[in-house]
Amino acid sequence: MKIAVLGGDGIGPEIVAQAVRVLDALRTDGLGIELECGLIGGCAVDATGEPYPDATHRLASQADAVLLGAVGGPQYDALPREQRPERGLLAIRKKLNLFANLRPAMLYPELANASSLKYDVVAGLDIMIVRELTGDIYFGEPRGIEIRHGERVGFNTMIYSEAEIRRIAHVAFQTAAKRQGKLCSVDKMNVLECTQLWRDVVAEVAKEYPQVALSHMLVDNAAMQLVRNPKQFDVMVTGNMFGDILSDEASMLTGSIGMLPSASLDENNKGLYEPIHGSAPDIAGKDIANPLATILSVAMMLRHTFNQEVAAKRIENAVKKVLAASYRTKDIDEAGMKSVGTKAMGDVVLAML
Ligand code: NAD
Ligand code: IPM
Ligand code: MN
Repeated sequence: MKIAVLGGDGIGPEIVAQAVRVLDALRTDGLGIELECGLIGGCAVDATGEPYPDATHRLASQADAVLLGAVGGPQYDALPREQRPERGLLAIRKKLNLFANLRPAMLYPELANASSLKYDVVAGLDIMIVRELTGDIYFGEPRGIEIRHGERVGFNTMIYSEAEIRRIAHVAFQTAAKRQGKLCSVDKMNVLECTQLWRDVVAEVAKEYPQVALSHMLVDNAAMQLVRNPKQFDVMVTGNMFGDILSDEASMLTGSIGMLPSASLDENNKGLYEPIHGSAPDIAGKDIANPLATILSVAMMLRHTFNQEVAAKRIENAVKKVLAASYRTKDIDEAGMKSVGTKAMGDVVLAML
């Protein structure tokens, strides 16, 4: 198992270090794991002038999977757009064709009180958000800021081809078929043509999956329903931008954005694994970031890319035990719990593993 490790910026290197300790432990126990580190994001700009250097692309292309922390930071916000750290993340997703982004929002029962919603609303929550990751307004052309009629205008293009919609729809239906068999497709077809096509193509693909119950929902309603009654959802499928927003919203149902892992897959289940949160510059370097989303991303890697279900479950069970034993980083802490920092959280996960 060749894994490229890209820590990135802010809390990225801190949380990835804890996930690497988990991989090291699995290697000691007999899994054939090879790790190689590379640069992405702001640290890559500092070293090479580019957020996704060729050397990193070679490393990531040759690896079976990529483990990534996060990119970005205020010190890079004034850079030209093509040098922004976020462009590095978009480039690796696009160049490796990682079109299927799985973001599971699952509530660990011990964290029910860390959620900002009432216990009954979130207890037992288990949603899978399937986000399209290489299309939509993120990549659409034309885009830019220019002068028209003596004033500046900013513009982007929301665009999906039916092939792009079809392939993510297949991933979503197959995901739903393995779960409770319910898929909700989220769009804005009442206003946007692009998402009318989305709804039409998803409905066509549905004919191949009679075992899955498909529903459609407008994105504004979906954002509301996620906080009103999130347990109505099993699998949600949506485009790149709506998926970005709805997955951050869903993360708070689980107690903290520091708990949500993700997998970004190509057609052959090669994947990039990263927490859904960002580089959290406000807490970087303080040893207080929650590393569990990144550690749980390693479990997703073992499951989706390497077919190592036993090892994946072992990591997830270790996380469950850590929470049951009351260990909490600051973002999920409550009175009466054992407060730990980033590294100490890694220590207890390893102990439970
Ligand atoms: P963010 O997700 O970095 O942080 C939002 C809030 O959540 C902050 O208060 C932060 O402290 C907290 N938080 C995030 N992860 C946490 C963790 N593991 N443990 C505890 N608290 C955590 O979002 P932002 O502040 O909007 O963005 C900061 C930078 O990160 C920006 O440059 C942005 O572009 C970038 N970003 C990168 C990614 C990525 O690399 N995948 C994702 C989102 C944002
Ligand atoms: C995410 C992030 C990225 C996105 C940014 C940093 C490019 O917010 O992974 O959710 O918008 O996809
Ligand atoms: Mn995001």
